Amino acid sequence: MRIKESILVSPSTLARKEAAWAELREKVENCKRCSLAERRIKTVFGQGSLKTPLVLVGEGPGADEDKEGLAFVGRAGQLLTQILSAAGISRDEVFITNVVKCRPANNRVPSSEEMMVCGDFLEAQLLLLCPKILVCLGNTPTKWILKTTEGITSLRGRWFEWRGIDVFPMFHPSYLLRNDSRRKGSPKDLTWQDVRNLKERLDRYREETIE
Ligand code: URA
Ligand code: URA
Repeated sequence: MRIKESILVSPSTLARKEAAWAELREKVENCKRCSLAERRIKTVFGQGSLKTPLVLVGEGPGADEDKEGLAFVGRAGQLLTQILSAAGISRDEVFITNVVKCRPANNRVPSSEEMMVCGDFLEAQLLLLCPKILVCLGNTPTKWILKTTEGITSLRGRWFEWRGIDVFPMFHPSYLLRNDSRRKGSPKDLTWQDVRNLKERLDRYREETIE
């Protein structure tokens, strides 16, 4: 049985974590480490609960996210909200971010150099959040986390591990917007299976930590 981690965190450790989080956010806001900084309107740090067992990571901000400074608020984000909520997961209770924090022009896939420099921020976020489960949405975060060249179609719906965190690749919601069929075995149908699988594991972690 796992011991609820917050019991082991002293107030001073918590304060230190909060300070580190604020510092990280500021570093992202001021970042000029790659050329994506030149065209951005806003950086997108990510948002949601900081005490969550579940973090979701996408590819990078699109036009709506760039304008608002928030992750997954456009059409793909709305679909993601629906998918999660259909399985009983509210967006308020999870943290959502991206591999790169600035919008790549025309929503192109971020370059490996952009992912490498910006990935440091994601890594720092994950080390501070310490989630139990990390959902990788689509090819880009899956490749970044698992250092694999295997595609999302064969990796989705399977459990992997990264630094003690359970990693679960799922299709990207933008892909589902382009593949709207609900027929058996379609990406949407498979995603519905995946999100139920995800919810089951999330509930299991919750049961283990409430004692
Ligand atoms: N697509 C992503 O990968 N991330 C967002 O924040 C929005 C769309
Ligand atoms: N390519 C991606 O990046 N993600 C998907 O979900 C499907 C294809």
